[in-house]
Amino acid sequence: MSKFITETVTYVHHWTDSLFTIKTTRSDSLRFRNGEFAMIGLMVDGKPLVRAYSIASPNYAEELEFYSIKVQDGPLTSRLQHIKVGDELLVSKKPTGTLVLDDLLPGKHLYMLATGTGLAPFLALSRDPEVYERFDKVILVHGVRHVEDLAYREMFENELPNDEIFGEWVREKFIYYPTVTRDEFKNTGRVTDLLKSGKLFEDIGLPPMNKDDDRVMICGSMAMNADTCAILDEFGLTVSPRMGVPADYVVERAFVG
Ligand code: A2P
Repeated sequence: MSKFITETVTYVHHWTDSLFTIKTTRSDSLRFRNGEFAMIGLMVDGKPLVRAYSIASPNYAEELEFYSIKVQDGPLTSRLQHIKVGDELLVSKKPTGTLVLDDLLPGKHLYMLATGTGLAPFLALSRDPEVYERFDKVILVHGVRHVEDLAYREMFENELPNDEIFGEWVREKFIYYPTVTRDEFKNTGRVTDLLKSGKLFEDIGLPPMNKDDDRVMICGSMAMNADTCAILDEFGLTVSPRMGVPADYVVERAFVG
């Protein structure tokens, strides 16, 4: 039996020359926890060519959503960037992953720290009611090179706060903190530097990160993940060592680059 379900593309949006979003149908049988990833891809020369992609749509949504970079010589994304409505997309039947609420101990503040397309799992989690039930403040930090790379900014700044279901929670609890490293912008600098200097906490009006109150999810490049983990360790937070063992923070280990 195949490990994949074949879904149909329903929507494609190109944010920039190098960033795009795909939506597909969702089979009834596909179950996942918000923050998890699936293997997705295309049939190439009669074989599945797949990579790990966080599911960007929340688990109650009718469709699946994925947020991708385009790598010109990338085996999958060089092809995937040309996908069109009506095309088929392979999606693995058993999503998994470490960025799940189940693996965080109770706390007051949830920090979701992302760079680039590492934003994807937080697109699902920021629309998960349990996140708002469990935490007093939910802080999404998204670090990118250029202002135009701040995909979904409009959703976080305007749509979510006015959403019929989430609006009230979002206005009370959600803090969106985009930061840009290679253009002028209201917030600048790497996520890691903003943590180390404490500027992030000053800007959002919360105390410096500490083990008693703060829980964290990290999703970025390998270097960003490693550097951020080192900083959180220094702040005294403990990482979840493996799936099913709750701790102060979790990091996505599935992606390379
Ligand atoms: P910078 O412009 O200083 O390289 P990328 O597209 O390369 O994944 O980068 C996305 C964002 O992540 C950029 O703002 C980049 O900053 C930043 N970044 C790259 N490496 C790290 C790292 N090790 N720690 C924190 N942020 C990083």
